[in-house]
Parts: sequence; C-alpha cells; structure tokens
Amino acid sequence: MLAAAQTCAVVGLDGYVVQVEVDISPGLPAFNIVGLPDTAVQESRERVRAALRNSGCEFPMRRITANLAPADLKKAGPSYDLPIAVATLLSSGQVTLPQKSAIFLGELSLDGSLRHTNGILPMVAVAKEQGLESVYVPAADAAEAALVAGIEVYAVPTLRDLIEHLQGVLPIAPTISNGVYAVGDGNVPMGNDLAHVRGQEHAKRALEVAAAGFHNLLFNGPPGSGKTMLARSLPTVLPRMTPEEALDVTKIYSVSGALPADCPLISQRPFRAPHYTISNAGLVGGGRTLRPGEITLSHRGVLFLDELPEFNHTALESLRQPLEDKVVTISRVSGTVTYPASFMLVAAQNPCPCGYYSHPKKECICSPSAVARYQKRISGPLLDRIDIFVEVPPVEYEKLVDEAPGEDSATVRRRIERAREVQQDRLKGCGFLCNSEMGPADVWAYCPLEEGARGLLQAATKQLSLSARAFHRILKVSRTIADLDGVEEIGVAHLAEALQYRSRGIR
Ligand SMILES: Nc1ncnc2c1ncn2[C@@H]1O[C@H](COP(=O)(O)OP(=O)(O)OP(=O)(O)O)[C@@H](O)[C@H]1O
Ligand SMILES: [Mg+2]
Repeated sequence: MLAAAQTCAVVGLDGYVVQVEVDISPGLPAFNIVGLPDTAVQESRERVRAALRNSGCEFPMRRITANLAPADLKKAGPSYDLPIAVATLLSSGQVTLPQKSAIFLGELSLDGSLRHTNGILPMVAVAKEQGLESVYVPAADAAEAALVAGIEVYAVPTLRDLIEHLQGVLPIAPTISNGVYAVGDGNVPMGNDLAHVRGQEHAKRALEVAAAGFHNLLFNGPPGSGKTMLARSLPTVLPRMTPEEALDVTKIYSVSGALPADCPLISQRPFRAPHYTISNAGLVGGGRTLRPGEITLSHRGVLFLDELPEFNHTALESLRQPLEDKVVTISRVSGTVTYPASFMLVAAQNPCPCGYYSHPKKECICSPSAVARYQKRISGPLLDRIDIFVEVPPVEYEKLVDEAPGEDSATVRRRIERAREVQQDRLKGCGFLCNSEMGPADVWAYCPLEEGARGLLQAATKQLSLSARAFHRILKVSRTIADLDGVEEIGVAHLAEALQYRSRGIR
C-alpha cells in the first residue's frame, strides 16, 4: 500500500516542503530510500526499523520503498527519520494522518525517543508560509518551533506518544506560541562595561558612532592600551534586535546547530571573535557539508578580528565581497547556497611586530622594512572598506587611577538606540535597517548636506583623492553622526568628524 507524509528540507537558510512516500509491496524484505538522500538519510533506515520495533509496532517484513520528492533536491541530515517512520506506519495501516495538514520533523533514537534536530525554525517557517496547519517536532525543539506564530506545534517526546496521538488514544496538546517578544525580554547584555575603560575618550566616541550606524572599525595602537577591551565592550552598547532580526539570526544558529539548548531565540546581537588561525571555510562558510561561516554567524551583529595582520591573507581577502554585498554565495559540487552576512567588522592591530612604532615614549625595535611588511599584510581594498580608523594611544597614569567613573554602557546604549530608531524610521520600506547598508542612490536621497558641509566635502574629495567608495562611506558615517546629534541636515562638524575617522585609510 502507498502512503505519504510531509516534511521539510533546508538548503542554505531556505526551506522546501518534501513529500515522503512509502510503498510497501510483496517481495523479499528490503528497505530502500530514494530521492537524492545523503548518508545520514540512508542510515535513517536502521534508526526507523529499530525505533518502530522498540515502540511496540510492527515493522513490515516486506519490500519497503521510501521516496523523498522532489527527487532533484538533495536531502541531508537526520530530520527525515520521523516522517519516514510515520509514512511507514500509515502505509502499513497502523495509524491515520491527523485531520489538520501537518509536517513531521525529527531524528529518532533506536529506542523511539526523538532527539534534538538542527534547522527546526526555518523548516517550521516554511511550513507556515506554505499554508500548513500543524508541525510535529521533537519535544526538545518545541519552544524553537513555537517562535513561528500561526501554526500549531506538537511536541513529540517519543514515537510511541505520536502513535497514540495519531490513533486518538492519548492526544498531545499543542504547544502555545511564545511569540518572539516574550522570549527576548529582560535580557541583560553580556560584556565589559565601557565605564571600566579608562581614558580613550576618542576611541569610545568612535565606538559609539560605529555601533549606531553599523560601520566598520579598526583600532590601531601599542600593546595593552585597551583595544581588545574596547571591542569586547561593544555587546553592552549595541542596540536591541527587532523581533524580525532576532528570528533571522535564530534561523542561522538553528541551521548551524549552534542554538543553545536552553535558549530557543537568539535575542542578543551576535558577537563573534574567531582566532586568527581560522580557515577560509570557517570564516566565510562552506566546507564539505556547506555550513555557515563566522561572517554569517555574526549577521546583524559584530565580527571582531583581533590581531588583524595575523589572519591568513586569503581569508581576509575573502571578506571583501561580503563586506560590500552583505551576503555570501558559496558554490560547491553539492550545490550553491547564499547566506546572509550583514555584519559590522571590528578589528584591532598593533602598528608593527614589536607593537611600539610611533609610541610616544618607547622605542620601536623593528626595521623600517619589517614595519612596512607588517602594515602591508592588510590590503588596500580591505582598508578601503573600513569606515572608522582609530588610534588607541597608551593610557596615562592619571587617567588609570582616576576615581571618577566614565560614562557607563547603559547611557551610551540609550543614545545609540535613539539614533537607530531615527535610521529605521527614515529607511522604512527600503529593505534595510541602518546607515551602513545604504546603497549609492540612498546616500543621495538621505544625506542632505548643509551649504558649508558641501564645500568641505568637495575640498576633501579633491585634496585627499578619495575613492568613490570612501566618498560614500564618509557620507554614511556623517549621516550617523548627525543622527546621534538628532539633526536631519548633515553639518560641517558632522562631516569633519567623519573625515578625521577616515584619515588613516586615505592613501
Ligand atoms: N584604557 C584602559 N582602562 C583600563 N584598563 C585597561 C585599559 N587599557 C588596558 N587596560 C588593562 O590592560 C589589559 C589589556 O588590555 P587589552 O587586552 O585591551 O590591550 P590591547 O590593546 O588589546 O593589547 P594588545 O595589542 O597586546 O592586544 C586589560 O585587560 C586591562 O586590565
Ligand atoms: Mg588585544
């Protein structure tokens, strides 16, 4: 007899509805899966066989064929266990499908219990988009699935429980959707408070501007001046994510299997700080099984590259395209996927190998060629994508022992959030959220300059031979500075501040 159940496949971050058809026909006992399954899906046969037996069901000793349609879409991962088991039970007449249209997702243990499965959120989201009414997911993932409003979520602890539910013996109650707002409320951001960073007012201001508009930033300075400390305090000042942003980020973490077990929703902006030994695939994504890289895991958040010149040159160069396009497309034999990568790049470096080049007191022991070689490790095109260059000088003794605390992160964050609201209102309907994401046309539309500022921009562009990219980026940073000031028209002071952040990047 032939029967079918529905499930979902995820490619990149996009989900597709997949029909699982099972046919049981007379013949020698066999169990075959067709429809471009990968090894994990092939191995599903053994898990389904054992899980059915251990759940007190009959495993048909006949010729079983499971077809995963559409046949030209690659099926990967263990989430097909549950739909294959359900379709087998349907086909052998042991259960009937629920009245409401449903998809089944989840990996089975040999004892019939359902395990945590990656990628539940994007799959449930696609089920909702396709108009399905209910989803059956492992109990461990029910909270994650319930983030999608408008679809009934059934938390299934074991296959036996699902069978009894489908037979109408012991129905499972649907999980109530938490809603995205409820889960993320009351979160205190993690990280160093800015108040603990002594002195460095110029660097703190630059950090505030960068966080308000999501601009790329590079700290340069001698060892121990507080570059890493400043960058690590960023999570405490970043604006809260909107519910849509939180869902987007959670989908990425769900697909990557990086969603913490006790946290169905990522409600804090990502802050990723990979070590400089990271591989290309680790940074931009890819690898044998096509996984998102650090740039995608820092989507809507910060990618912090400490000790920038130590990173592999090719890995750094591979950041150039995603830094412009805000997405990364990876092509492999197994397929092409596009992952979002709208992140803020924050980097820190010393000026030379010994760290004391241009130090006011200490002498640099590097040869001029060693300094030049070190500085050349970061290519011009990558530097051109950095909006804000900040020198972080050594902290003076008086500042270090100063008892008066500096401004705390909560105060700075309030200013940043206000500036972010202004941007969101202005850019509503454009498809992006902050100043750094504006395209060239938007720059003209949304960056009106005062008369004096126009003259300054003209003089600076000519005298400093700004690249077209630098020109646009300076305008975007001055837009953010004006937003922090709460004014619509960009003034001379705003533009001058943006220009001085750029001074080192201009060559
Ligand atoms: N401005 C500062 N205010 C208070 N403490 C500071 C400051 N700068 C540095 N420190 C102290 O020095 C330690 C090291 O600072 P940090 O790691 O940020 O230096 P760095 O500039 O990143 O140095 P490196 O170039 O060696 O990586 C901090 O953990 C902190 O204890
Ligand atoms: Mg450091």
